[in-house]
Amino acid sequence: MKKNNYYITTPIYYPSGVPHMGHAYSSIIADVFARFKRNDKCNVFFLTGTDEHGLKIQKAAEKAGLEPLSYCDKLSKVFRDLTKKLNLSNDDFIRTTETRHYKSVNDLWNKLTKSGDIYLSKYKGWYSVSDEAYYNDNEVIEKNGKKYSTFSGSEVEWVEEESFFFKLSAWQNKLLQFYEKNEKFILPLSRRNEVINFVKSGLKDLSVSRTSFTWGIKTPNNSKHVIYVWLDALTNYLSALDYPNINGKLYKEFWPASVHVIGKDILRFHAIYWPAFLFAAKIDPPSRVFGHGWILSGDEKMSKSKGNILNPLEIIDNYGIDELRYYLMKEVSHGSDGSISLKSLENCINSDLANNYGNLCQRVFTFINNNCNGSVVKNKNLSNSDKRIIKDTKLLTENLRDFMDNQNLNNYIKSVIDISFLTNKYINDEEPWKLKKNDVDKMNNVLHIALEEIAKISILLNPIIPLASNKVLDSLNIDSKSRNLSFLDGEKIIPDKIKIKKLEILFKKIT
Ligand code: MSP
Repeated sequence: MKKNNYYITTPIYYPSGVPHMGHAYSSIIADVFARFKRNDKCNVFFLTGTDEHGLKIQKAAEKAGLEPLSYCDKLSKVFRDLTKKLNLSNDDFIRTTETRHYKSVNDLWNKLTKSGDIYLSKYKGWYSVSDEAYYNDNEVIEKNGKKYSTFSGSEVEWVEEESFFFKLSAWQNKLLQFYEKNEKFILPLSRRNEVINFVKSGLKDLSVSRTSFTWGIKTPNNSKHVIYVWLDALTNYLSALDYPNINGKLYKEFWPASVHVIGKDILRFHAIYWPAFLFAAKIDPPSRVFGHGWILSGDEKMSKSKGNILNPLEIIDNYGIDELRYYLMKEVSHGSDGSISLKSLENCINSDLANNYGNLCQRVFTFINNNCNGSVVKNKNLSNSDKRIIKDTKLLTENLRDFMDNQNLNNYIKSVIDISFLTNKYINDEEPWKLKKNDVDKMNNVLHIALEEIAKISILLNPIIPLASNKVLDSLNIDSKSRNLSFLDGEKIIPDKIKIKKLEILFKKIT
């Protein structure tokens, strides 16, 4: 893959219930990186989709009284509609029930069989349908006569059945060497240590097929078995690139993936099983797995089984999509878990969006439209405070690409909001309303600098709040091709003489 190409994915979602905030969170994070990279002139491929096989889905379909495929058709559409509601810029939406995906999974399975990494045996152990995961004895506890996974808290059942196994244990050393060599394969770093310790503690071979139900992709060599849903699901990242057509444009441009964005609960699958499958099939592993924390409601993970779901669609209808996107990206620290509530959402909208960025744009646009006939002209004589804000902004923007390349969105947003804060202060200090009476040249410079700062902030916030930032950039008459990050390399964004349009209110203050 060429340096300028960027392939980013979300987890593919189980359509076993309606989407909730956790799903929205994974998707928005990935969308922000995808948009940032596009604005930085990269060739981006952004994938999301639904994970439609396995016992969990089979059971959900039975409960709904539908055939599994009809059930998936219905619910996958709900997730596809959510991509529009969340304003995701995904280039593709994959379903694991599509023919293109079957082709890829079959090919991968055959490769693993051919390399001698798959053998037939019998699985005896614990299984969680809710996680679609196997657990060891030491990962299970008993409560009130039932058994639960200590890792996820979900109920487990005892399973004994014929199964194909993948020789995961044979890849233990190769995996450890790989983590060692690729320090940033797993981010944040705290998660990397968890994975390394788990691998060091010894990997057992992994059951990769099931015989006690039918809803899945049949193993090519034995129709009694369906392929384990995680081996099936992980392959989606290749299917969307038209794998096994490795000479095709998509695969050549975009594999290995730049980042798989996932929640920390599914790190083991992505950071251990997935690279091991790929090593065995002689396919390059992805460059990075970013495991974000959980969104909590109170102190608990939001989940259907716990009934503490904050509905993203209701929040979007009541507050707006940019508002939700900004809040989730700003308030929830991406490495760790974060609690969300309507109160803190409202505080965040008021303090950062309405009072800071929104107010900055409004006051500058209104002043120029009311006092300068909508246009300002820059002149050469910059004052010390003009020079200072230009310099401070430069300092605050220096690490932004680096933050994004390391999935450090919290620091990114903090820096950009600081620029907005500084610009508001600059206007308070420079008082263009007074300069209008006695120093029109200076007033023009102040307003021009303010507009340039607004343009920068808007381009920088564009991946997070695309709707509002584009309204501002439209009103600045900046064409869509110029809404990129070349100003970070010293290029001008707005012309010396600039004419602006009116700007509607961006964010309503919540009282
Ligand atoms: N189908 C698998 C993923 C397969 S990827 C090859 C799956 N699906 S899921 O629908 O259960 O969850 C998808 C994502 O949503 C996971 O990354 C999970 O971490 C995220 N979230 C679900 N609940 C969450 C929170 N409460 N908070 C944050 N994200 C969580 O797992």
